[in-house]
Amino acid sequence: MEIRHLRYFIAVAEEKNFTRAAEKLFIAQPPLSRQIQQLEEELGVQLFERGARPLKMTVAGEFFYEHAKQLLVQMNELKLMTQRMGHAHESLRVAYVASTLYGKLPQIINMFRQRYESIKLELHEMTTMEQVHALRAGEIDIGFGRLYLHDANVRRIILRKEPLVLAVPANHHFVNKAGLSLADIINEKIILYPQKPRPSFADQVLECFKFVGLQPAHLIETRELHIALGLVAAGEGVALVPTGLALTQIRDVVFIPVIDDHAFSPIIMSIRTLDKSENIRNMLDIIYDIYDQEKITYTRRNI
Ligand code: BEZ
Repeated sequence: MEIRHLRYFIAVAEEKNFTRAAEKLFIAQPPLSRQIQQLEEELGVQLFERGARPLKMTVAGEFFYEHAKQLLVQMNELKLMTQRMGHAHESLRVAYVASTLYGKLPQIINMFRQRYESIKLELHEMTTMEQVHALRAGEIDIGFGRLYLHDANVRRIILRKEPLVLAVPANHHFVNKAGLSLADIINEKIILYPQKPRPSFADQVLECFKFVGLQPAHLIETRELHIALGLVAAGEGVALVPTGLALTQIRDVVFIPVIDDHAFSPIIMSIRTLDKSENIRNMLDIIYDIYDQEKITYTRRNI
């Protein structure tokens, strides 16, 4: 069985007609019919019902169609990923979710540029889901995000678990607290972000509550981090955010540590499965060097 057979079979299945499929494939109809016959003979099963008009797939045909389509998508991704790997030594394309800019991302990027001046480094803001698609399409080499999305073509490395802090309005009765638990804030209006796409950081925050059997009664969903913090400043509610935000000065907002151990958001590096390029190894070394310098707890992983 060759790739050609899959392409021909998919065209016939989608057009439900040999003549139209042949036109779409720019071949004559008799060779197309012969190729489908050969495929059925090799598989030892009928893929199309005999005599049905319009053409109808058998159960085996439908099964084969779904898998053949997936195989062609994977083939195309393999081509795009390999083409990208061919240029991986010249440049590094990095995608990040916005909140990592308040973590160590700026330091990491600066250090990479200092150590590897000749490498062209590109930065792109993307959601974790977009990062997975971009890795598969060969458009980026590394994604820094917070969600653990499963995909066989993508390897995820948990870099560290960043604790959450609570952003409260400067005139809130919590402002002088040294630390708060999730149970302490269960009756507050909790401002979540981003509303879309889901799953998102908002779901991570809700999971933290669920983990201790709590469900906040008042939720306000907002489009993004800065809207959530603006609403906190306006006294609309409180928001759980990654600790990195506590280093910023936001007018009328105070950050208070959250003491529950499981109230954290992971920082995850996604790369193409089996990608062992030097630039990625160098990037990982820089991240761990910074963690060591700043005494940040992490578990070292190798590629
Ligand atoms: C961090 O804050 O640990 C981090 C942020 C972005 C990329 C890598 C690490």
